[in-house]
Amino acid sequence: MTVPQPFQYQGSKRALAPLILQYLPVSTTRLVEPFCGSAALSIATAARCRAKEFWLNDLNAPLAKLLSLIVNSPKELGKFYHELWRADHVDALEHYYQVRESFNRTQDAQLLLYLLARCVKGAVRYNGEGLFNQSPDKRRLGTQPDTMQANLNAISALLRGKTIVTSLSYENVLANVREDDVVYMDPPYQGVCGERDSRYLAGIAFDDFVAQLAALNLKNVRYLVSYDGRLGNRSYGKPLPAKLHLTLVEIEAGRSSQATLLGRDEMTVESLYLSRGLAEELEVVPTMRRHRRDEQMQLMEKPVPYGKAKISKRVP
Ligand SMILES: C[S@@+](CC[C@H](N)C(=O)[O-])C[C@H]1O[C@@H](n2cnc3c(N)ncnc32)[C@H](O)[C@@H]1O
Repeated sequence: MTVPQPFQYQGSKRALAPLILQYLPVSTTRLVEPFCGSAALSIATAARCRAKEFWLNDLNAPLAKLLSLIVNSPKELGKFYHELWRADHVDALEHYYQVRESFNRTQDAQLLLYLLARCVKGAVRYNGEGLFNQSPDKRRLGTQPDTMQANLNAISALLRGKTIVTSLSYENVLANVREDDVVYMDPPYQGVCGERDSRYLAGIAFDDFVAQLAALNLKNVRYLVSYDGRLGNRSYGKPLPAKLHLTLVEIEAGRSSQATLLGRDEMTVESLYLSRGLAEELEVVPTMRRHRRDEQMQLMEKPVPYGKAKISKRVP
């Protein structure tokens, strides 16, 4: 299945979405993404008709506005992109810097689409003054307007009429989730949080995040968290504590190109934590038995709270 992508985005879960989706209930009333970024998981979920409604949220206000335009005004946005992209061909680099300057002045979300399509690695970077300062990718011209328009139309067709988009800090989203929601959280990596790294708008304090998850447990809200992981045998980031009663699933995300360059053959493994309610539900819902045989058997094992023992699940 080809799932449309609105723009490249560093940290996007697009490639892992089919694996993460295996841990969503078969049918979800509303999927909530408090740290949605490029909304890769919601788009993949909508493409498979696995949720009826979506709540996309990201603290980055122009990014959230851009997602709202993609969902609700794909034609106008595509036309705007087309014109910007065409204007790029006289002096592409100079054009990029002009658009970037204009975006920093106006915070116009339409300009952000062009910047994301043209910047290095889709990495949103801001300087200390909050100005977008990522450089243009000198080797690529960005997504062709026709391809962009087709992607925008396809995403809008999947999400329009069933999606709300907000730009709140994640705590405000979690305070308003309903008991029948399923929440997928993909916060910035611990390793890139904090004052010294401007890759994200705000660092998430570990203890605050744990307290927010404990509050979700009290409300019986089902949730999944992508949270750091390991490279080869080295873990990065602190694991989430046993007191949250989570089930840990490890997902092989691929070989690390950095390690390969250094002559090491190491696999990047991402952690996916499932809330207790969700892990128990996956055990008892027989319709989840639809994957490869070895996966089905593991899905049907009794979930073990993280900290006592660990389900270490290899997904091909
Ligand atoms: C790892 S990215 C999410 C990537 C996303 N899963 C995807 O597939 O594109 C984390 C996102 O969290 C957002 N963010 C950072 N701090 C936040 C906060 N306090 N509340 C809500 N969103 C936040 C960032 O702007 C960033 O887009």
